[in-house]
Amino acid sequence: MTAPSDRRSPFLPHIDAMSGYVPGEQPRDGEYIKLNTNENPYPPSPEVGKAIIPALDGRLRRYPDPVGTAFRDAAATLHGVTREQILVGNGSDDLLTIMTRAFIGANDLIVYPTPSYILYRTLGELQNGRLEEVPFDNDWTLDPLAFARPGVRLAYLANPNSPSGTCLPPAEVAKLAAALPCPLVVDEAYGDFAETHCIGLVADHPNVIVTRTLSKGYGLAGLRLGYLIARPEIVAGLEKVKDSYNCDSLSLLGGAAAIKDRAYLRETRGKIIATRKRLTAAVRSMGYNVPNSSANFVWCEGGAPAREVYDALKARKILVRLMKYPGRADGLRITVGTDAEVDALLVALREIVG
Ligand SMILES: Cc1ncc(COP(=O)(O)O)c(C=O)c1O
Repeated sequence: MTAPSDRRSPFLPHIDAMSGYVPGEQPRDGEYIKLNTNENPYPPSPEVGKAIIPALDGRLRRYPDPVGTAFRDAAATLHGVTREQILVGNGSDDLLTIMTRAFIGANDLIVYPTPSYILYRTLGELQNGRLEEVPFDNDWTLDPLAFARPGVRLAYLANPNSPSGTCLPPAEVAKLAAALPCPLVVDEAYGDFAETHCIGLVADHPNVIVTRTLSKGYGLAGLRLGYLIARPEIVAGLEKVKDSYNCDSLSLLGGAAAIKDRAYLRETRGKIIATRKRLTAAVRSMGYNVPNSSANFVWCEGGAPAREVYDALKARKILVRLMKYPGRADGLRITVGTDAEVDALLVALREIVG
């Protein structure tokens, strides 16, 4: 009989070697002011419930539309592109997974800036790809020549970036796209809070793929729906890689209702941007370096030690995200909450940092 210690791990060696992505804490007790995972502090549009609730009937016996045609049409109308240019995903993370599976094989090179969304690393590791992280310049810009590494097969750019909240203008992203010999995924998870976006680049740059989510701007992180905008031939290729029914019928219905309600997005976005301005000024006055944010969070570096502040806030039932990047001091990423939540945070922060 084989001794337990002789048994080989059932996992592929590169899976055994990776540590896996750790999402932000999601406490279930509802006791916390939760400013750690960039959720929207406002509920989704009332149109979402109106679309979903009547559909809770016998239609659920059926599989959903595999490509989410009605949602694609709504997204295509919104962005002035064709249905064939939209692919739906179970959140934008699903789309990032589909693309990494489609474009990256063992030892293929994948590049992304750092500090940025940590999932890009995990997705590259899952494919046993080769990862190169390109540091942002001090002002959160990127040199296209430094980014476009020879032999690169896939590039990721979160724009607005997380954790910095900074946003490269489309003209700069166009330079990156022109310098790259491979797909450039512009991850616009926070695009609904920014002044600019890169969807217009898809027309002139066949390698640009823009991802969007309903988790942030539309307050639907629990529904799981995202989409991407790309050339039709890219969408057709990615359809071969996705799960057959990657989006359920209720999220497709609710998502279409949400993106059609422009007035509601305008209202909630406006409130978040006003609160963001106030939060930015307040944390700057406490000695933190805070870049101008185009997202629904702010990035705080260089003030009172991040770990201690994080712990002291948590003890007061306020959760923010402590971010650690190699070669850089820890920082705090703080989601823009309601005005009341941000007021409570600022009272606590003043007590803690003095
Ligand atoms: C930069 C970035 N991209 C993508 C996502 C994934 O969003 P979702 O899968 O909810 O659409 C997140 C979530 O926090 C994010 O920060």
